[in-house]
Amino acid sequence: MSKIFKEGGENKFTPSYVPKKIPHREQQLDELIKIVKDGIDIDAYAIPILYGETGTGKTTTVIHLLVRIKEIYGERVEVKRINATTLSRTYMAVTALAKEIISVPSRGLSIEEILNRLYDRLDIQDVFYVFAIDDADELIRREKGRILELLTRIEENYDRRLMLPIIVVRNIKYIDALPGHITSKLGGPRIEFPNYDKNQLKDILRERVEEGLQEGAITQNAVECATFNVDKLFHGNARELLNNILKAGKIAEDEDAPKIYAEHVRNAIYKSYTSTLASGITVTKARDRSLRILWSLFKALQENPDYYYIDDKVIEKTYENYVSTFHLNDISMEDIPDILLDIAINETQNLISIDDGRLAAAHLPVSKVFNELTRHLFF
Ligand SMILES: Nc1ncnc2c1ncn2[C@@H]1O[C@H](COP(=O)(O)OP(=O)(O)OP(=O)(O)O)[C@@H](O)[C@H]1O
Ligand SMILES: [Mg+2]
Repeated sequence: MSKIFKEGGENKFTPSYVPKKIPHREQQLDELIKIVKDGIDIDAYAIPILYGETGTGKTTTVIHLLVRIKEIYGERVEVKRINATTLSRTYMAVTALAKEIISVPSRGLSIEEILNRLYDRLDIQDVFYVFAIDDADELIRREKGRILELLTRIEENYDRRLMLPIIVVRNIKYIDALPGHITSKLGGPRIEFPNYDKNQLKDILRERVEEGLQEGAITQNAVECATFNVDKLFHGNARELLNNILKAGKIAEDEDAPKIYAEHVRNAIYKSYTSTLASGITVTKARDRSLRILWSLFKALQENPDYYYIDDKVIEKTYENYVSTFHLNDISMEDIPDILLDIAINETQNLISIDDGRLAAAHLPVSKVFNELTRHLFF
């Protein structure tokens, strides 16, 4: 049995898993529920546009929304989400949406005809169709918003509003760049999905850890490390966070470690992204003294795979290493934090980072850095 993951817990960290709770998206969800309810109950609707960068919870929120709407209205609604990345032509997207309700011959119908048939069927069955067009950037960009034009026009042509579209994009600029006759009709609410910050990422992770990990199988420092990196390197993309913890968990498992430590998180980042983030270690530019202090620091950090913050204890050990290895008394222990701060600010490779005002070994695996520094210094 895994010490790290619960039975089937790995799945809770994969993109296809829909979490039970969505911290920091309750507001967007409530707003959307109200928008759709108003559309159905009092015929007040204008297409909402959800926007935000990748990994900000748009799809997850929409999935929750559609489930809730189905719960509320039962047989009176049909709900559907399509992903427009693979349906990036208006015709394909409309066909995919219509197929959920009517049979669409593979050829011979214009988009308008398909939409009319769809509408007629909804009308006869007295059913509302709530659908989300997810990842619609490309679809909107390629045909200059044709899909939006069609969807807003339907609302004008009939007296009953039976289709309630929801549009999801990463970049709202494509919408703003559309011709005026389309944008002028898009007066609906815009719902922003801001990037998550470190604390929000912690809340998201807390839920997931509870669902997927064994009790106590991740340390606080590992959490600090993962959320700091995702905030700084991946603009708060929650997908990267979950992926990182999944990988860190597997590394911990392979090592037969009892918990996920900060070093597992750093190793997971290193394994996944060194090529893209170019964080190979080259410290040749560092001045000799900086190099010696860095070496002494990483030697100290190496003693515990869960070290993250460079606190007083680590500083003390750093100083001891410095004195005992290099037999120098050119600095005192009190000088070390300032020197490290200077390195953190000026050195470009994130050997040391500043997390919320505190020095931290956040980015690269300590063992890798230590080996590299040793090579530079002694060979
Ligand atoms: N608030 C949240 N609570 C819990 N999990 C979240 C939250 N936001 C995002 N996630 C998780 O992060 C991952 C990415 O979320 P999601 O797919 O919803 O993002 P997205 O905004 O649709 O991204 P993209 O633009 O790339 O499609 C998913 O695994 C999802 O479960
Ligand atoms: Mg999405």
